[in-house]
Amino acid sequence: MSILLKSDPQIAKLIAAEEKRQKEVLEMIPSENYASAVVRSALGTVLTNKYSEGYPKKRYYQGNRVIDEVESLAIERAKKLFGVPYVNVQALSGSPANLAVYVALLEPLKDKVMGLSLAFGGHLTHGQPQSVTGRYYKSVLYELGKDGRLDYDAIEKQAMREKPKIIVCGFTAYPRIIDFKRFGQIADKVGAFLLADVSHIAGLIAAGVHPSPAPYAHIITTTTHKTLRGPRGALIMVTQKGLKKDPELGKKIDSAIIPGIQGGPHDDQTASIAVALKEASTPAFKKYSAQIVKNSKTLAAELNKFGFDLVSGGSDNHLILIDLRNKGVNGSVAAYALEVAGIVINKNGVPFDTMPPFYPSGIRLGTPAITTRGMKESEMKKVAAWMNRAIEEVKGEKLPEDKEKRNDFLKNFRARADRNKNLLKIAAEVKTLTSKFPIP
Ligand SMILES: Cc1ncc(COP(=O)(O)O)c(C=O)c1O
Repeated sequence: MSILLKSDPQIAKLIAAEEKRQKEVLEMIPSENYASAVVRSALGTVLTNKYSEGYPKKRYYQGNRVIDEVESLAIERAKKLFGVPYVNVQALSGSPANLAVYVALLEPLKDKVMGLSLAFGGHLTHGQPQSVTGRYYKSVLYELGKDGRLDYDAIEKQAMREKPKIIVCGFTAYPRIIDFKRFGQIADKVGAFLLADVSHIAGLIAAGVHPSPAPYAHIITTTTHKTLRGPRGALIMVTQKGLKKDPELGKKIDSAIIPGIQGGPHDDQTASIAVALKEASTPAFKKYSAQIVKNSKTLAAELNKFGFDLVSGGSDNHLILIDLRNKGVNGSVAAYALEVAGIVINKNGVPFDTMPPFYPSGIRLGTPAITTRGMKESEMKKVAAWMNRAIEEVKGEKLPEDKEKRNDFLKNFRARADRNKNLLKIAAEVKTLTSKFPIP
């Protein structure tokens, strides 16, 4: 940082400001975490200087002897941690990882992918019409049941009818354990590949606190920067079951990454992923992951006491989805008020939401980052009480029915919230608490 401060003070100051922000608030966006200083130390090293298109021992450019070792280590560590025989570590992030699976297996405009609708907690790359994955490939979307949970019978019926080539399970906003075995049976019944996108819960799976899809899915994708607590990046894993269905599956995935959709891998990112995978195999990481779930369950129970309407009633993992309609507060209003109060979450749609994605009825939050800081159940009780105070404070702030007026209302509301003494008082209390829990 001292070199950066000298040569580019504008950027150095912005990085310092972001670090201060991350220190002072409760980071509760469930897809975020604090990577360790060790994980970050592998990023931005001389490895960023190298081009290494291809794979270990099969590169297009010379000078890759060391990079081959780095990439092979990352691959071996991922194989061991997740119990899979084939791994690609080059996808630059979660979205290209999923796209690579489709490029490997689907004929554009002909074959079908079936994933959970975005409005119900699926990811854009699970075949949503706004995404290339739903525009270049045929897609069909399933939904959750009225209870906010996966309705496996309905998914099976839909799969039988639609005959997708890939079924995607693993989600962006689902607070419950996923029955991968049942998904595997459904995929087998219709002859589909089962893709488990465990981006959100990969750390929990690695630690054994969420069941693994490895025995049931053919392919597993994950980002490396959420509960797994690595740098930004992704893994694409082929299981034993996947290789049995198609012995060429690993090779197809590799070719889908390069030359299919990417060029050279980011080698510093690969090294950092390897470091994170080593960390994720330690007893300390198991303890950390178990605490994520304990914290999430405690927070859910406390929020229930304050009358918050939790989708599916609670949480089995790291994530909580709140339907705010019973509080009379829109998700966009709540998210901003909470940020002023020092609690950083995101607005989110809830199942059967009648509001558009920019003004959804709910919020989504999670415990991975605050658990990294060492927070436990007693802190979760404080968080729930602060959240309740913040939401009570903005209860009368009704989003206009008239769509044209919503933008102006939010602008106005933000200005008022920025000066709201009670929200700022919560932020000061949050800051006192967070000062006792250092970030890595
Ligand atoms: C389930 C799931 N898959 C894939 C992704 C995409 O990851 P990225 O943002 O790294 O492209 C996300 C991101 O939030 C996700 O939640």
